[in-house]
Amino acid sequence: MSENVAVEIRDLTKVIGSKTIVDSLSFEIHKGEVFGLLGPNGAGKTTTIRMMVGLISMTRGQVLIDGIDVSKNFTKAMQHIGAIVENPEMYKYLTGYQNLKHFARMSQGVSDQRIHEVVNQVGLEARIHDKVKTYSLGMRQRLGLAQALLRRPHVIILDEPTNGLDPAGIRELRDYLRGLAEKEGIAVIVSSHLLSEMELMCDRGAIIQAGKLIDLRPIRRTEMDETSEQDILIEIEHGVQAVSILHTTYPQVDVVLRDDHHLELRVAREMIPDIVQALVSHGERIYEVRMVNKTLEETFLEITGGESHV
Ligand SMILES: Nc1ncnc2c1ncn2[C@@H]1O[C@H](COP(=O)(O)OP(=O)(O)O)[C@@H](O)[C@H]1O
Ligand SMILES: [Mg+2]
Repeated sequence: MSENVAVEIRDLTKVIGSKTIVDSLSFEIHKGEVFGLLGPNGAGKTTTIRMMVGLISMTRGQVLIDGIDVSKNFTKAMQHIGAIVENPEMYKYLTGYQNLKHFARMSQGVSDQRIHEVVNQVGLEARIHDKVKTYSLGMRQRLGLAQALLRRPHVIILDEPTNGLDPAGIRELRDYLRGLAEKEGIAVIVSSHLLSEMELMCDRGAIIQAGKLIDLRPIRRTEMDETSEQDILIEIEHGVQAVSILHTTYPQVDVVLRDDHHLELRVAREMIPDIVQALVSHGERIYEVRMVNKTLEETFLEITGGESHV
């Protein structure tokens, strides 16, 4: 297994009764990335996570955490994983601090110093001695994260962490998780059915539908570079003439005339200035040039043929 791999999943399968809920999933999650487990409700995300952390048995397959097989050496594999599956269980009538203290007592080697560190890390210092029942959902999420972080995990798994958070809470969680991955090299795994949110949070993702892996891809828009092709839309005075200019100058480029004034092209980013130049030098008046960013949601609908409820 390569140095860079934090989690490896091979042929992971769950059959309950006659139903295959998770169907032969195989993929790897790297250290220092935020990885999305994406798909509509009922796709099998929670079941996958529950198998990864040993909450339920697997019918077939293997999960390796830091190279350690979860089925063969459960305790050792779990030492390096912090997980929040569904809502973290907290004692509402205790303070946040008391909850962490309680959890620390159940795990070995968590010092008071470490508790203070994680409380600061998730930004709960001002409220940590208040009762959990007075916390907002976002604060409870952060307390759950603090708990998951106590044992200095190499891997963190969060099942639908943005559920119920408002946009500000989602942004905060996103920045925080990205920081954990980038600064501490932790592999962060998040599941979600809300694909547009995940686009901004994840580096890569596995798209799952009906238990099957249907795509594994980079999903951050920022991953675009100069040579990767993208769709651009040009608003121009004379669309028809512009198409013929481009056909002559750049016969290899696909151009679609959307209407009299709009062209859509698929080109490498580095070619955009040349294309604009070619049109302008033929006297064409350009009003707008912009990227057409397909959202993950649109891509997802394309892949699954629109049969989803995202
Ligand atoms: N214990 C179970 N018995 C029978 N079916 C189950 C069980 N757990 C989950 N399922 C079914 O498996 C499918 C996937 O569920 P789940 O993993 O919770 O999906 P997701 O988290 O992606 O929404 C759903 O159709 C669900 O009804
Ligand atoms: Mg779920």
